[in-house]
Amino acid sequence: MLELFPGGFEEVDGHDGVELIAYTDAGGEERLWHAFGGARAQDVAADWRDRWKSFHHPVRVGPMWIGPPWSDVPPDAEAVVIEPGRAFGTGAHPTTRLCVELLLQLERGSVVDLGCGSGVLAIAAAKLGFAPVLAFDSDEHAVTATRANAAANGVDVQVAVADIVAADLPQTDIALANITRPTLETLAPRLRSRLLVGSGYLPTDATELAAYRHVRRITRDSWAADLYEAAQ
Ligand SMILES: C[S@@+](CC[C@H](N)C(=O)[O-])C[C@H]1O[C@@H](n2cnc3c(N)ncnc32)[C@H](O)[C@@H]1O
Repeated sequence: MLELFPGGFEEVDGHDGVELIAYTDAGGEERLWHAFGGARAQDVAADWRDRWKSFHHPVRVGPMWIGPPWSDVPPDAEAVVIEPGRAFGTGAHPTTRLCVELLLQLERGSVVDLGCGSGVLAIAAAKLGFAPVLAFDSDEHAVTATRANAAANGVDVQVAVADIVAADLPQTDIALANITRPTLETLAPRLRSRLLVGSGYLPTDATELAAYRHVRRITRDSWAADLYEAAQ
């Protein structure tokens, strides 16, 4: 679902499982059928794009407040204002929050955000004083959103379109990668960062990663995030 609908989808807990709901068109419905072999379609009111806004709630992670432009920022917070647009990363997803939680514990240094989506992690890093901050995503919408969000937050993030499992990666103190576990496993041996914050997978997923030593795992709402240190 993350790959098909990086802009977001709903998870609704039912008594016999979780229902995943995407707001999409006929093309999206077709992609769902191809991916899952089935889907149930229902027409929604024409104002769904505005009603969708009500799902974007601000979150607090330590001193950080991450929220949409239409919410009020508390006066005591370090704010990251995110216009989600068509890119993943409102800040509210447990994996994003877990990454910020781990980032808050790290010594300041250079950062690369691998799979930046809306730019939420890169912008949070820049707001916390990490520098320089680089960000990559293979999706042009994500790169556009990151650029716009970084400018709106008044921070400097160097963003580019790149496939992170193929591109040359920069040498940084910290790499942030909120992506799927298979992508993280492909990526790890190619990284040139001393510390790695990984998320986007489940607490039942393995912690071992080639070229990295596992430092610690934190979990929230059935999602996991790990801090790693380069093995050599
Ligand atoms: C789960 S979102 C994370 C967004 C944001 N960093 C956050 O933590 O909320 C994963 C992002 O990784 C990007 N992505 C996935 N595979 C990629 C690849 N091979 N190269 C570059 N970006 C990739 C997707 O386009 C998506 O924007």
